[in-house]
Amino acid sequence: MAERKLHAIMIAFSFQGHITPFINLALKLASNGFTVTFVHTEFIHHMLSKAHHNITHVDDEDFFSGARQSGLDIRYMTISDGFPLDYDRILNFNEYWEAILRDFPSRVHELVGRIIQSNESLVPFLVADTFYSWPASIAEEFNILNVSFWTEPALVFSIDYHLDLLRENGFFPSKGNQEDLIDFVPGVQSIKTKDLMSYLQDAHITTVIHQIVFKAFDQVKHADFILINTVNELEHETLLALNKKQPSYAIGSINFSTDFTKTVVPKSLWSETDCTEWLNSKPAGSVLYISFGSLAQITKQLVDEIANGLLLSEVNFVLVLRENTDVLPDGFKNEIRGRGLIVSWCNQNSVLSSPAIGGFLTHCGWNSILESIWCGVPMICFPFYADQPTNRKLVVDDWKIGINLCDGSSIDRKEVAEKIKQLMSGEISNGLRDEIKKIRTILQNALAEDGSTHRNFNQFLKDLRAKVH
Ligand code: UDX
Repeated sequence: MAERKLHAIMIAFSFQGHITPFINLALKLASNGFTVTFVHTEFIHHMLSKAHHNITHVDDEDFFSGARQSGLDIRYMTISDGFPLDYDRILNFNEYWEAILRDFPSRVHELVGRIIQSNESLVPFLVADTFYSWPASIAEEFNILNVSFWTEPALVFSIDYHLDLLRENGFFPSKGNQEDLIDFVPGVQSIKTKDLMSYLQDAHITTVIHQIVFKAFDQVKHADFILINTVNELEHETLLALNKKQPSYAIGSINFSTDFTKTVVPKSLWSETDCTEWLNSKPAGSVLYISFGSLAQITKQLVDEIANGLLLSEVNFVLVLRENTDVLPDGFKNEIRGRGLIVSWCNQNSVLSSPAIGGFLTHCGWNSILESIWCGVPMICFPFYADQPTNRKLVVDDWKIGINLCDGSSIDRKEVAEKIKQLMSGEISNGLRDEIKKIRTILQNALAEDGSTHRNFNQFLKDLRAKVH
């Protein structure tokens, strides 16, 4: 009897840093012969529609029509998160996420039931972001396999996974001693308290973020498979230890897997300014790219110090400011005319891969780090919260492909200028460039035909099929 076709039901997490890898995973599964039903929240659908209204070859109602034209079997659906489209989900973060924890699972349950029912000839399985609070419960109710997708480094996953050990050893809630060493997490050599994720550095652990993490890591312990958007060779020990607990596969960076480059699927939540012409007019390696990702809320004081640091450094730059440019110091735009480009959003990969780019001042979002490595661009690190302080450790302390923006607690324009100069040219810069070449080669090799990412993905497919049939 012919095997029934596998059907991945994928419900994306509603942040840019999760959406991009999630869509790329969908494309990869579909290009391996799976049927995929991909679900965005209605809010994300709305954001994508606004950002991509000028793309005429993509059906506004169905962001995967381009994928289907390339022969992939991806269906598209939306789900309400329970809030109106104009509700500010960042400003009302706590209220929003409390409601998501409370009310979203029943909506997902109803939708998954409906999807399974209308595709009875297919074998369904769930692919959900690890951060969700419901995947194991829902997979269990429908008796389907549950694949958990983690879009951050294995290091961060391992620490969250072993929160019980942190508690037992008196490190959670935090004792507040920044230099304390944690050396008991399996597969993690040792890490200082100050390098833990921001939510593990709190003395109080009652915020909604804690609730999200607690629920997520209760659920993931029941997942059948864990996919991690990292590279085996970069986090080998950590992955080895994780694999002793549950089947885990390093499939990163999913965003650079090449089998689906010709498919057009909108991923960006904001419309992108094209920086190509401006970058082409600048000498090789002369431009610093600055972005703090999709979530960080930047204060006027921070913008002031960065802007003045940029002026003092005298380098060319592209600055992404999602905020209104009114936050910039008076006269700044006139002073930087010709050597600075300020945009509200851009295609970061295309900017980073321009020969004009010589460095990246980043908030250390995991996607940004992987993209910088892919393009061989060394970094200045300025983490804000969540996984970013921990990601910084990997970049600066472990891989030596970046430097810290400020070694003290407050940010100062002179230090900003100094660090920018160190990054862009001179002895420190050369050292960073040598190291990032090595790390880039590791990433490239992992993604090659016989590389670890490719092998791990195929192994996952084999194990999944074996478990289903
Ligand atoms: C956050 C976390 O910090 C990150 O580590 C986690 O994995 C997801 O949530 P975010 O702040 O959005 O993510 O940062 P990052 O992971 O770097 O993702 C940002 C994405 O937006 C990148 O893929 C980047 O290419 C893209 N981007 C950014 C643009 O396309 N244009 C821009 O102008 C800026």
